Amino acid sequence: MAGMNQHKRHPVAWCRGRAVFPTVLVWAGLVVGPLNLGAASAPIYARQGMVVSQCAIASRVGLEVLREGGNAVDAAVATAFALAVTYPAAGNVGGGGFLLYRPAQGETAAYDFRETAPAVAHERMFLKDGVYDSKRHHLSHQAVGVPGTVAGLHLAWRDHGKLPWRRLLAPGIRLAEDGFPVSYTLAGSLKNILPQMTNYPASLAQFSRRGAAFQPGDKLRQKDLANTLRRIAARGPAGFYEGETARLLTEEMRRHGGLITGEDLLSYQARRREPVRGSYGGLEVFSMPPPSSGGVALVEMLNILEGFDLRAAGMGSAANIHRVVEAMRRAFADRAKYLGDPDCNPGLPVDRLLSKDYAGELRAAFPAGRAGASSPQDVLDEKDSRETTHLSVVDASRNAVALTYTLEDSFGSRIVVPGAGFLLNNEMGDFNAGYGLTATNGLIGTLPNLAAPRKRMLSSMTPTIVTRDGELYLVLGSPGGRTIINTILLTLLNVADFEMNIQEAVDAPRFHHQWLPDQIVFERHGISPDTLGLLEREGYRLETSPYPQGFVCAIFLNSRTGWLEAGMDHRAADAGAAGW
Ligand code: DON
Repeated sequence: MAGMNQHKRHPVAWCRGRAVFPTVLVWAGLVVGPLNLGAASAPIYARQGMVVSQCAIASRVGLEVLREGGNAVDAAVATAFALAVTYPAAGNVGGGGFLLYRPAQGETAAYDFRETAPAVAHERMFLKDGVYDSKRHHLSHQAVGVPGTVAGLHLAWRDHGKLPWRRLLAPGIRLAEDGFPVSYTLAGSLKNILPQMTNYPASLAQFSRRGAAFQPGDKLRQKDLANTLRRIAARGPAGFYEGETARLLTEEMRRHGGLITGEDLLSYQARRREPVRGSYGGLEVFSMPPPSSGGVALVEMLNILEGFDLRAAGMGSAANIHRVVEAMRRAFADRAKYLGDPDCNPGLPVDRLLSKDYAGELRAAFPAGRAGASSPQDVLDEKDSRETTHLSVVDASRNAVALTYTLEDSFGSRIVVPGAGFLLNNEMGDFNAGYGLTATNGLIGTLPNLAAPRKRMLSSMTPTIVTRDGELYLVLGSPGGRTIINTILLTLLNVADFEMNIQEAVDAPRFHHQWLPDQIVFERHGISPDTLGLLEREGYRLETSPYPQGFVCAIFLNSRTGWLEAGMDHRAADAGAAGW
């Protein structure tokens, strides 16, 4: 929160961290009260443009870009580079992700900058003497995938950006060089992660004060990261995939048995992909195609649920939870069975999974009044971590960006590249661990997502843009591993079916079912005990998670008023919406 107060004083732009400021917008002397009187919680309003991210400092960076005439892509790129400095748990240059861009006019574009496996990767690399080696899979130099973020942000900017590339890097460089105040939340997450960094001196040096934890209000300066960002600003992707940065990264790999070579870095390519398209009632949904499973699973679930009258049964009712959970179960089984990198799996049955007919067949087979069942046999042939980050931007012309990127775990591999100041991902952990390992605990061992040279690991990231009658309606995304897909589904249903304003939709309690383990995980205090009792009697196994499910950053365009409305997740203490 330390970084927040300065935003409160900002003369033009308006920015909120948590629910600490009144829900009114003060801009140029105009005071606008909540437009939806009677709502449980009100969104943040802006007319000209809005940036919502998990860190208020970074949102303000994006807002300044919009105010200078940059478009949504410019703002998203600048915000992402700022997050790489101010939100080191997930903001990154050493990871990867996906960006969806919907211009006010023209076709929606999807950018895939998912990490790839190094050239020497193979499908048995996470087995030791035939037995699954979780440490190598998730926390080792071999868990690092070839980073995609710099290539992806640059490709999207080259296609659509307006402001100079260097301008977009400048705030990130300044924040890394001069430092920024460590918030209460960041201090806590750094304190928690330090014991896991003891084998990595460069990580300890960057994220502690000579081994002691940062206190809230301390300044975090990252000089090596500033220099890496300067090289990227000066040379574009060549400042990362070649030269000094590449040398420092590959030396770290060589010293510690990592697999990434200079050739892996040089051959990395971000890709333009055809977005997944679906519809739900009168809404058109655009989301991420493989190698993310997010868009396909989301549209499959929406297609199934379209056949029910969710509104009549009521939000949070046992009847609706039953339907939504059964849709989740089927979409996650299909995800495990069919999905992986499309470049390595020719003929993925995406069209079938997205078809209304297929959804109708699944719906017709729903069990009435009792829980369905999941089994590893469903696919015949892990654990989720909790740090990724999403940002949503809409500019004055109503161009929109949804960008989700990640290091996989919180602080990724925990490994800072010595001399280069950035954290490496541990994304190789998103490959299936080994063939045939599918088990009731959620480990998946299907073919399409086994590791292979230069292959992209399957993701659940679901940056999504929704339109109505050809006009922008909603931009949203979230972190949360496999829970991401369900978080996006529930938030969208809250707006579309239950007519919540975007803040209410984001605040509403969430739940998750991912086929295996066969259980519904609820957020604490989300659902009434008697509703839970009804579900238990239907045969569902219920769990309560002590953690929040996702952190949604969403922007809704209210067609009635023409105003943008931000839904900012109070589950993320440092999040910020900045609009003007
Ligand atoms: O790509 C994926 O689906 C995961 N690596 C995302 C990890 C994640 O969301 C963790 N964070 N909350």
